[in-house]
Formats: sequence, C-alpha cells, structure tokens
Amino acid sequence: MRKPMMAGNWKMNKSVSEATALAKEIAELTSGYANVDRVICPAFICLPVVQWNLKDSPIQLGAQNCHWEESGAFTGEVSAAMLAGLVDYVIIGHSERRQFFGETDESVNAKIVAALAAGLTPIVCCGESLEQNQAGETQSFVSGQVRGALVGLSAEQVQSLVLAYEPIWAIGTGLAATAQQAGDICGKVVRATVQELYGAAVAGATRVLYGGSTKPGNIAEIMQQADIDGALIGGAALDGKSYAEMVRITSEVYAA
Ligand code: 13P
Repeated sequence: MRKPMMAGNWKMNKSVSEATALAKEIAELTSGYANVDRVICPAFICLPVVQWNLKDSPIQLGAQNCHWEESGAFTGEVSAAMLAGLVDYVIIGHSERRQFFGETDESVNAKIVAALAAGLTPIVCCGESLEQNQAGETQSFVSGQVRGALVGLSAEQVQSLVLAYEPIWAIGTGLAATAQQAGDICGKVVRATVQELYGAAVAGATRVLYGGSTKPGNIAEIMQQADIDGALIGGAALDGKSYAEMVRITSEVYAA
C-alpha cells in the first residue's frame, strides 16, 4: 500500500523566522497523524534553521529545486549534493520553474538524476496549461512530460520517486480540477505512463500526488480517488491550521 503524503510547497514565501514558527506549529498540530507523510518545502535559506528546529519531529523537509551539477561556477544555484543531509525530498520541474526559469524535460531529467545520486527523493511535477487542456492535449502532453522526466532511470529509481500532477490552470486560481478529473489524469495518464514504461508492479508502487487549489474543503474527495496518493499544496500549506486540517482529513480517509 502506498503511504499518503501531504507536501507543502511554500514557494517564495515566509522569512526565516516565519518559516521556523510555521514549521513548529505544523509539527505540533500534525503530531497525531503518523499514517500520513508530512513534508514541508520552505525556501533554501530557511532549510538549515527549520531542520534544526524539527530535529525531533517526524515532519520531513524538501527543497523546491536543485541544480544538476554537483558543484561549480553556477552563480545563485544550489546542488542536490549540497542539499543531502538537509532535506529528504526535492521538488523538480514545477510549472513555475518551467515557465519562468526555462526548465525543460531535459533539465528536469538531469536534475532527477542528480537528486537520486545525492540520495534525495524527487517530487517530479507535470501538468498542462489551460490552452493545452482546452485543445484536448492533456493526455499526450502530460504523458510526454512523464516520459521525458524518466529517461534513463531504472525501475527501482522510478518507484522510489514521487510524481505530482499539477494542471497549471488549477495552481493558485481557486479552480481545482474536480476530484474525478484529477484522479483520472493521475491514474489513466501519469500512472499509466509509468506502467507502460516499467510495468504494473512499478506503477503500483509509485506515489502520484495531485496539486492545484487543494484545501481542507476539497481534500477528502481528492484523497478518495484510488490513484491519488497525496497532494502538493501551495497556498493552503502556508497556514498551519489549514495544512494540519488537510493532514487530519487525509489520515481519516486512509484509516477508513
Ligand atoms: P496552490 O495549492 O496554491 O494552487 O498551488 C499548488 C502548487 O503549485 C503546489 O506546488
């Protein structure tokens, strides 16, 4: 059985002191829900102090990006090797990085390889734009992104990572995909692509998250979808109580 995960992507929000306070609040409010993996992804500069403050907590940490090289002349970048020991997860290929920072399927693949080599678990994002959705291109585009991300990876590596389907039109818009739409793409496109490439056992073991306007009010329905194993949460993860509520609801859905 795939363990559910609630991953908070804090994006470019929260100062070091705000991040520390939020992380502590989340640790306290979610302590009763061990059947859910709780992952928070603050900005790079917050990671050391948040890690120190969470050292006795089951909350896991993730970064929001990494570079594909181990070290070198890449001003402003942070390598996966530098993140090792600090975080367990790293978000790779978020649509905001693809849109604003020129990331491509090739660079996403290179970053995944680097993250795995450093012992980190990549949370690999995919998702179509509104135009692609309206043109009926969702399946082919998302499946192509998954294929591009996984080039050259072994079955063992693929089942160790986390995939996240985040339709761009649902991110930060309040317009979440319906639970059924989200479940369909997570199952019939994302997991089905993994199955086509690596077989049913690997596809059955790989966690697939949904992201895009998830909140306490819609998380139960989303988590009831058989092919959705968790959420990558933006805005609602910036509030300790709403994030904790989503963890609680997920815990209940899975305990049922
Ligand atoms: P929202 O939950 O704010 O829509 O953001 C989703 C997201 O981009 C998480 O990575």
